[in-house]
Amino acid sequence: KKYKVAIVGATGAVGREMLRCIFQFNFPFESLKLLASARSAGKVIEFEGQEFVVEELTENSFEGVDVAFWSAGGSISEKYMPYAVKAGCINIDNTSHFRMDPEVPLVVPEVNAEALKDHKGIIANPNCTTIIMASALNRLNEYFDIERIVVSTYQAVSGAGVAGMEELYRQSQEVLDGKEPVAKTLPCASDKKHYPIAFNCIPQVDKFDLDNAFTKEEMKMVNETKKIFNKDIKVNATCVRVPVLRGHSESVYIETKKPLDMDKVFELLSDSHGVDLYDDIENQIYPMATLFIGDELVHVGRVRKDLDNDHGLSMWIVSDQLMKGAAYNSVDIGLKMIEMGLL
Ligand code: A2P
Repeated sequence: KKYKVAIVGATGAVGREMLRCIFQFNFPFESLKLLASARSAGKVIEFEGQEFVVEELTENSFEGVDVAFWSAGGSISEKYMPYAVKAGCINIDNTSHFRMDPEVPLVVPEVNAEALKDHKGIIANPNCTTIIMASALNRLNEYFDIERIVVSTYQAVSGAGVAGMEELYRQSQEVLDGKEPVAKTLPCASDKKHYPIAFNCIPQVDKFDLDNAFTKEEMKMVNETKKIFNKDIKVNATCVRVPVLRGHSESVYIETKKPLDMDKVFELLSDSHGVDLYDDIENQIYPMATLFIGDELVHVGRVRKDLDNDHGLSMWIVSDQLMKGAAYNSVDIGLKMIEMGLL
């Protein structure tokens, strides 16, 4: 069977990768509709010799569409997805809007594909940092039973969309030209103040939750990790934006219920679906963001046992967050649904 497919937000940083993943991973489409704002209507996007004309997203865009991949922001999903559901379209949403809705499965296919069976027309794709971490930790959790995670992230500017990437390029040039860098978007377009990202690190991704002093991005890691693993893992996250164009890195420390056996740890990581163990310190082999642009794997290195705790393990995780953290995971959810007879 072939499907009538739509991409909502097709001109954005993630939307473009969704288009690429649909081709690269052979999502069986009969037709492909690219949707964006009125600003982009009529724009022609060429891919693999085919031309696609971008259409304006409206309430009527989903008549006859079987499956839609969404990445145009939470407010767009909130406003338009009910029309898509009504039209019988199955929606895979990369925004945060529906993620914690108990009616909506939140899925990393290799971790909790079973949850897809309960969908009611909407499936949420988790936050990029959470997907990457969940994928890397899944087999370790199955075997050693993770109780607690302490994570610091080093997140690329493309997580803030095309505007984030443009800002890093522009500000870098401004600094090189001896000018003051002008900040317009980061750390968060909708917050009050903006700070330069060029030659800087910003310890704020998304807005603050003033009740508990964590940011929303940090709370996504806390809450979404529990929902994906379907257990009460304790998570403490610090999310930082760094001047990297593409690829999120995470320093992850876990505490497990069962004592760790390092041979088993390496065996599980080598044998985890979607995970590439990239760890050879004698030869200075460890993952770095610039090594893996455009690939769909989660790369894990610097794996080491805590010096004082037999239940403590540190590692360094890197993945192209536009791929595994967003577009690839969404398309993989669609492929998994076909395999499970749900689409
Ligand atoms: P457009 O390019 O027409 O503004 P990014 O992830 O880079 O921030 O991209 C956001 C995506 O969401 C873009 O494809 C953008 O389209 C789309 N988008 C933003 N606002 C709207 C809207 N009101 N209706 C439809 N699509 C929108």
